[in-house]
Amino acid sequence: MTAEVIYGNELAQSLRDEMKEEVNELRSKGIIPGLTVVLIGDDPASKSYVKGKQKASDYVGVASELIELPAETTQEELLGLIDELNTKDSVHGILVQLPLPDHIDEQLVIEAISPDKDVDGFHPISIGRMMTGKDTFYPCTPYGIIKMLQSKQIEIEGKHAVIIGRSNIVGKPVGQLLLAENATVTYCHSRTKDMEKFIAMADILIVAVGKAHFVNGDHIKEGAVVIDVGVNRIEDGSLTGDVDFDSAAEKASFITPVPRGVGPMTITMLMHNTIKSAKKANGLL
Ligand code: GUN
Repeated sequence: MTAEVIYGNELAQSLRDEMKEEVNELRSKGIIPGLTVVLIGDDPASKSYVKGKQKASDYVGVASELIELPAETTQEELLGLIDELNTKDSVHGILVQLPLPDHIDEQLVIEAISPDKDVDGFHPISIGRMMTGKDTFYPCTPYGIIKMLQSKQIEIEGKHAVIIGRSNIVGKPVGQLLLAENATVTYCHSRTKDMEKFIAMADILIVAVGKAHFVNGDHIKEGAVVIDVGVNRIEDGSLTGDVDFDSAAEKASFITPVPRGVGPMTITMLMHNTIKSAKKANGLL
């Protein structure tokens, strides 16, 4: 089998076009969705992600504000800023770019953001609501992955979804969203014994470990759907995923590339969450 490639950038573009129209309509009613991004320090990867968020905001018409703070910013200063943003009516979404410097307690910061403005979907209230099937903000990368599967009418119900990686940002929540769609879910991680056995069983394989070419075509089942969340910079300076694309594409039914795969969908779902928050704040949802 040769896989059909799921281009996240193309789906992201069509969703952003729809969002742009929706935001135009909201603006005509005087509602301007607002997103504030807080970036601490000067990690190049974080800077590049934040740039992508600004670009997407400009495109769809979300009013975005970037607050850049030095790496020495104290936890108290950051918590004070979040308090201010929590009460500011023009701000519908607050995103603090992770990772944070070591002297700041990441969980404390996540929990300080009002769940009403938690467009990352990282607050324990958002996570709890997601796990119990209630309406909430879903974490952007997992939500984008579900949208990618749905865009190709890939059946999830009854399928064995194997997730490699158990981060709070991707692995854990994507498993929960797939479970909500009635998949049978297995989580694999660094302590999993016989991981290859589980990978070979996957109908839907989500790879989010951050190791270049961790999975290749020898590991996967014929016809598997392979979603590659990895973004790894390799020696020649180029970006590559956690999956060896060429060998996996020979056996998979669907596969996502890196770049132009999951990445653009993450930012698109952030726009979705921000627009949703603005609608909620104005009694439209
Ligand atoms: N760092 C890497 N991915 C993310 C994300 O989705 N949200 C935030 N806030 N930080 C990140």
